[in-house]
Amino acid sequence: MTPLRDPIVTLDGPAGSGKSSTARAVADRLGFRHLDSGALYRALTFALLEAGIPQTEWDALTEAQLRALDVRVEPGASGFEVFVQGKAVRNELRSPEVTTRVAHLASLAPSRATLMALQREAGRHGRLVADGRDMGTEVFPEADIKIYLVADLSERARRRLRDEGVAEPSDAEVRAQAIAIAERDRHDSEREHSPLRRPDGAHLIDTTRLDFEEQVDAIVALVERLTGAG
Ligand code: CDP
Repeated sequence: MTPLRDPIVTLDGPAGSGKSSTARAVADRLGFRHLDSGALYRALTFALLEAGIPQTEWDALTEAQLRALDVRVEPGASGFEVFVQGKAVRNELRSPEVTTRVAHLASLAPSRATLMALQREAGRHGRLVADGRDMGTEVFPEADIKIYLVADLSERARRRLRDEGVAEPSDAEVRAQAIAIAERDRHDSEREHSPLRRPDGAHLIDTTRLDFEEQVDAIVALVERLTGAG
């Protein structure tokens, strides 16, 4: 296969499938930038909460109103820094207030349109590993390599709890987290605009029984084989 220049690699999948951490590690190994598109939806949600706009009013917001919230990204050495009203945001984006509301905001057409331009601009020069729900279907349909990551629901719940610092979660904690994740998955898969689905031609990787390094190695090898990158 002729090596392609400036490839784009997309990783889509449900909550807790390991997309963001995997995408970051794969990008590091390849010397590409990582785009965490979920962080943009979280930033827009955070911006609405900061602006004091109640969730009951979100469905009526226009693209112009959402753009005025001033969510931006700046390319950095290995990824993109996210800004809201000129202020860098990171930990704020993972708060429970944001996590429980982001899927609602992400289901609205004006919010998807607002963030589309930012994402496409981030991919303009290629050398990008982008993770999210619609990277391979809507944002970068022309991507060179598309990957769809899945894992069992209870394993995803356990990983999410571990990320939050719960080293040995009880069965009850795992069950409660699984319910919350399943609810967000349902929202993301059943919505009208850019629903979560496996992109045509995507490589399916089930990470339930893979350890992190194996999963990163498998994707890096795939990218190197298919694009001649690295
Ligand atoms: O890390 P996790 O997979 O739990 O979530 P995330 O990637 O930070 O995404 C948070 C939410 O943003 C998702 O549940 C989706 O509702 C939304 N999202 C989306 O709609 N499209 C994307 N490309 C990325 C995220």
